[in-house]
Amino acid sequence: MDYKITTKNEYETIEVAQNLETEKFPNMVICLSGELGSGKTMFAKGFGDAMGVKEEITSPTFSIVKEYEGELALYHMDVYRLDGELAGIDLNEYLAKGGVTIIEWADTIKESLPKERLDIDIKIIDENKRVLVLKPHGEKYVDLCEGVL
Ligand SMILES: Nc1ncnc2c1ncn2[C@@H]1O[C@H](COP(=O)(O)OP(=O)(O)O)[C@@H](O)[C@H]1O
Ligand SMILES: [Mg+2]
Repeated sequence: MDYKITTKNEYETIEVAQNLETEKFPNMVICLSGELGSGKTMFAKGFGDAMGVKEEITSPTFSIVKEYEGELALYHMDVYRLDGELAGIDLNEYLAKGGVTIIEWADTIKESLPKERLDIDIKIIDENKRVLVLKPHGEKYVDLCEGVL
């Protein structure tokens, strides 16, 4: 089952991230998709702040993955530039380190994503309106969505 959430401004998108963060668990994976400016980084920032990350979370576009310290480690990835090729990056290594992994442009590396994950596809409706489509894969993520949404 998919969950559709409409947000009317960036704060409402941050709120969705905060709600999901309350049920975080080690090795959690959130896969964000949606065009440029849809709010992927905004979501990641909201989630990271809620995790107690003190450092400012910025778009990792030029580093592919950035690590932050919070209640759990946060691995924030932007795989846009990889062009579908995960060359040199061992995604599985990050997914097993006990932290939370948030991947922007995850749909570009579909083949490499873990089976168990939460997909969030963000659609731009207009300047401030977004529809977040949450698709849980695996029991843990179904429970997560049922628990907080
Ligand atoms: N409902 C909304 N949710 C998220 N961001 C929004 C929303 N409405 C407007 N915005 C704006 O859209 C932009 C999203 O930027 P960003 O998160 O960097 O996108 P992406 O990482 O998907 O390219 C921000 O400037 C933010 O203020
Ligand atoms: Mg971004």
